[in-house]
Amino acid sequence: MNGPIDRHAQTSVPIHPLLASRHSTRALEPGIEVSDEQFTALLEAARWAPSSGNTQPWRFILARRDTPDFKRVLDCLNPGNAEWSQHASALLVAVLTESNEKGSLSHAAYDLGQSMAHLTFQALAEGLTVRQMAGFDAEALAGEFGLQAALKPTSVAAIGVPGDPGRLDESVAAPDLRPRWRIPLEELLIG
Ligand SMILES: Cc1cc2nc3c(=O)[nH]c(=O)nc-3n(C[C@H](O)[C@H](O)[C@H](O)COP(=O)(O)O)c2cc1C
Repeated sequence: MNGPIDRHAQTSVPIHPLLASRHSTRALEPGIEVSDEQFTALLEAARWAPSSGNTQPWRFILARRDTPDFKRVLDCLNPGNAEWSQHASALLVAVLTESNEKGSLSHAAYDLGQSMAHLTFQALAEGLTVRQMAGFDAEALAGEFGLQAALKPTSVAAIGVPGDPGRLDESVAAPDLRPRWRIPLEELLIG
């Protein structure tokens, strides 16, 4: 390798530096304690996201490192994800509220994703990094935490301080060492 790879988004015009610098890394600095205040800031950012009809269909399980909950969440991850995310400062389960007393919430998944986007950028502003995961056993996780039927674990995010991808096993580090790509801007607009 010839030095660190630039993970910044390549954009046709400048975008906000936080957006340009965000990327998902599997390299997390082990043993880092994130403060209560920082976690509260992350949850506040999620809490103030917009949602359809202000239904706020987001709930979270915050499992901080060195707690029994951390191991309970970690054990529900696919082995490939558990390998690197064991070093996270916290594992955050994003839980979808599929329905409330008025019936099913048609835009719940959209709203939950939006709350995670808010949380992610607050994390970046705090000097943290977030990598979300779909690779986990949602049923096992729901059972482990005794979630009601309307509550569906939808993603797990590894939150921590970015580490050195060079210290990761090559198989785990591979995505962090490849150039990032996106479909071209012209393809975003339909019609
Ligand atoms: C809903 C969701 C699920 C994801 N699942 C995984 C996963 O299970 N394991 C993993 O290492 N990365 C996972 N990722 C990270 C994506 O691979 C990553 O966001 C994508 O490759 C784009 O890279 P970037 O975030 O650096 O722009 C997931 C991301 C999202 C938003």
